[in-house]
Amino acid sequence: MNLKTLPKPFFVLAPLDDVTDTVFRRIIAGCAPPDLYFTEFVNVDGLQSPGRPNLMKKLLFTSAETPLVAQIWGKQPENFYKTAQQLADGTFARELGLPEGVNFAGVDLNMGCPAKDVVKTGACSALIKDWALAEDIINATKDGLAGRLPLSVKTRTGFDKVSMEWIEFLLERKLNMLTIHGRTRKEMSKVPANWDLIAKARRMRDHSAPDTLIVGNGDVKNRQHGLELAERYGLDGIMVGRGVFEDPFAFAEKSPWLDMPKEQKIELYKKHVELFDGTWKDRERHIATLNKFCKIYINNFHGAKELREQLMAAGSAKELIKLLDAAA
Ligand SMILES: Cc1cc2nc3c(=O)[nH]c(=O)nc-3n(C[C@H](O)[C@H](O)[C@H](O)COP(=O)(O)O)c2cc1C
Repeated sequence: MNLKTLPKPFFVLAPLDDVTDTVFRRIIAGCAPPDLYFTEFVNVDGLQSPGRPNLMKKLLFTSAETPLVAQIWGKQPENFYKTAQQLADGTFARELGLPEGVNFAGVDLNMGCPAKDVVKTGACSALIKDWALAEDIINATKDGLAGRLPLSVKTRTGFDKVSMEWIEFLLERKLNMLTIHGRTRKEMSKVPANWDLIAKARRMRDHSAPDTLIVGNGDVKNRQHGLELAERYGLDGIMVGRGVFEDPFAFAEKSPWLDMPKEQKIELYKKHVELFDGTWKDRERHIATLNKFCKIYINNFHGAKELREQLMAAGSAKELIKLLDAAA
């Protein structure tokens, strides 16, 4: 896919590990779809090991959640090369049982995850301090893709401190898209995202990499908020993550969520539980994963807290559905 055919500005559902799986992406698609989706981050060193079958759940998708970018991370450039090759030539799509002609729309390199256990391995946001490895990874992935899919990077504004040199380094790699989360690694999620730095990156792009699309990310609540930021800072795209926890219709022109009656919210959670149950039949994802979503739907109505307590103690999808039916 040519990312340049996306609307301006385009909206992206952020990768949220253990949250934005195929099930939740389909829920969002049914409420109000973004223009582009990302998978959760999936480790290339694991994908190219005997552990591959356990990781395929992170790549699973249906044509309802397209266009979809596969987000990868890891340490070994040769595993980025092999994974990129297999994403581009349809090997993964075939392993996932997707119909002929359905494939990923691009590949993104995670250079932003701040988690301690990940950083310790030298991957993701640690690459902000290891340009040599970052360059090897980008080159290996480019070689594997051989121009068949677009390549993007998602990163932060620095590691311990802001580093526009890092952004310049990435822009010089001539990526198809660069997503910038407006915080350093050190800032984790503790301070508001700095959109002035994202704007600065966009101005640098105008000079050094006019073909690279710039996507801003951090604290965007919904489409209206994103449109304002895109206009103010001249951005190509806006990525929304946690905003969908507050409103699953965050990408809608006019969200019905605030005024939605309790019964419809319960119905939407039931749909989520049913999709979950139908998708993860071999228990690839534990039922307790659903507890992360409960508060999205079971919220802002009389008795919501008590209902949440009951739902979170449920041990099976069947039990959850029974409780939801009784409450609706
Ligand atoms: C639970 C959770 C999981 C995340 N997983 C990923 C991930 O797999 N890959 C990634 O690039 N970023 C990940 N992020 C970061 C988000 O994509 C996003 O950059 C961050 O939440 C800021 O955007 P927001 O304020 O719109 O949520 C994750 C964030 C959260 C809260």
